[in-house]
Amino acid sequence: MASDNEKKRGLIIVSNRLPLSVNKEGDSYKSSLSSGGLVTALSGLTKTTNFRWFGWPGIGVKDDEDQKQVAAALAENSAVGIFLDPQLAHDHYNKFSNSILWPILHYQAGVAFDDDAWKAYQRVNEIFADTVAEQAADGDLIWVHDYHLLLLPAFLRERLKKQRKHCPIGFTLHTPFPAEDFWRALPVQKSLLEGILASDVVGFHTDEYKRNFTESCGRSLKSNIETEGKITLDGHESCVGTFIVGIDPQKFADSLQDPGVQKRIKELEEQYNGTDVIIGVDRLDYTKGLVQKLEGYNCFLNEHPELNGKVTLIQVAVPSRQDVKEYQDLEREISTLVGKINGEHATPDGTPLIYMHRSVSFTELTALYTVANACLLTSQRDGMNLVASEYVACQKDRHGVLVLSELAGAASFMTGGSITFNPSSAQELSESLYNAITMDKEERRERHESLREFITTHTR
Ligand code: UDP
Ligand code: G6P
Repeated sequence: MASDNEKKRGLIIVSNRLPLSVNKEGDSYKSSLSSGGLVTALSGLTKTTNFRWFGWPGIGVKDDEDQKQVAAALAENSAVGIFLDPQLAHDHYNKFSNSILWPILHYQAGVAFDDDAWKAYQRVNEIFADTVAEQAADGDLIWVHDYHLLLLPAFLRERLKKQRKHCPIGFTLHTPFPAEDFWRALPVQKSLLEGILASDVVGFHTDEYKRNFTESCGRSLKSNIETEGKITLDGHESCVGTFIVGIDPQKFADSLQDPGVQKRIKELEEQYNGTDVIIGVDRLDYTKGLVQKLEGYNCFLNEHPELNGKVTLIQVAVPSRQDVKEYQDLEREISTLVGKINGEHATPDGTPLIYMHRSVSFTELTALYTVANACLLTSQRDGMNLVASEYVACQKDRHGVLVLSELAGAASFMTGGSITFNPSSAQELSESLYNAITMDKEERRERHESLREFITTHTR
C-alpha cells in the first residue's frame, strides 16, 4: 500500500534565490527559512504536497564536500540548492537580470544591451533546467517565479520531454510587464517570450501587465491569441491570467499582540507625541521613486511652514543590489537630498526627516507601521507593492491614510481607500500628503475599512 508521502502530489517551486539563509556553524552548515509571504503561503502546502523549493543558495560553495553539506542543510527545509560559479551568478543576477531586464520591465529608457551578460543569463537558466528536470518526478507540478528565469519554462519543457516526464509548468511574474512598443526595444525579447510561453499557466499581478504581455506575443511571435486568456504557440496552449499577490494579515495582527512590539509602540508613541508620523518603507531602488518622494516632501515642508515640528517622515530604505552602479549612484543622490532637506528645515527641537539606510527587524517594522498616521509610497513603477497592504494590516485602531502612487500595481486595487497621486509631481505629492494628515476621522475610518476589506479577501 502507498504511504501518505507517496500519495501526495509533487510541487516544485523555482526562484532565483532560495528563501533561506545558509550559515556555517563550527564544522557544519545550518539553513534557516526567511519570513517572506510566499514562504508562509507555501509552508501550508507541505500538508498536501511533496513540496520542494529549488534555487541558488546565495553563497558560493566550491568544494564538493562543502556542497554536500550545504545540500544536506537545505534538504532539512525542503530546499534544493543550485550551485553556480560566482562569476556566472554575478553576470546573471547583476548584469542581465538587474541591469538590463529589471529596468526594461520598469520602463527605464536607455538600457545598454550586453551580449556576454545575455549568455550568462541563458547559461544559468539552462543549469536550473538541468537540475530541476533531473530531480522532478513524472506528474510533479513545477512553478517558476520571476524575471531571473524567463527562459526556464522552455528549457524545462525540452528536457522533460526527452525524459518522458509530463509535468505541468506554471510561471508568475512579480514585476510589471511593459507596453509592447517599449518591450520590443530589447533585442532578445522574442526568445524571452517563447521561454515564458512554454508554461501551461502564466500569471501577472494586474490586467494591464497581462494585456501588455499578450500584445507583445501577438506582435512578435506567430502566436494565436484569438481566445481571451489563451495564447497558442507552435501547438502549445498557455492560459494567461491575473493573480493578485497579497499578504497574510493575521501575521501582522499576531505580531501586534507581541509584548515586544507593544513596548516598542509605546516608546515610539511617547517620542512622537503631538507629531504626525509618516512612514515610508522601500528597497533602495530607483523604481520606488525615493528621489521624487524626498523632493515632494521638501515641497510639502516649504508650503506648510505652520507644520514644521509637527510632522516627521521616517523613511526606511532597505539596501538592495549594491553591486549595480545605478543603485550605488542612487544611494549617494538620496543621502545628499536627505542632508539638504534636514539642513533647510531642522530646528534644535528635531528634524522633519529620519532616514534609515538599513533593514529593520519585524518588531520595529510593525511598530513603525502602527504609530504612523500616513504611509507614503511613491513608486515610479512597481509590480504590486506589499508594503501598502502591510501598513493597512497594522492600522486597525488608528485608521492611518495610505498615500499611494497611481503607478504601483497595488493602486489597481486600492484606489478606493487610499489617496492616489502621480509621484513625478512634487505639487501633487504635497497636496496628497496634506489631505492625508488633515483628513477627518470619519473619512479615515471609511477609507481604512475599504482597504481592510481588500487585504483580508486577497491574502497571498
Ligand atoms: N521588508 C524587509 N525588510 C525591511 C523592511 C521591509 O524585508 O527592513 C519587507 C516588507 O515588509 C515587504 C517587502 O520587504 O514585505 C517589500 O515588498 P514590496 O512588494 O513592497 O517591494 P519589493 O521590495 O518586493 O520590490
Ligand atoms: C522584487 C522582485 C523579486 C526580488 C525582490 C528583492 O520583488 O520581483 O524577485 O527577490 O524584488 O530583490 P533582490 O534582488 O534582493 O532579490
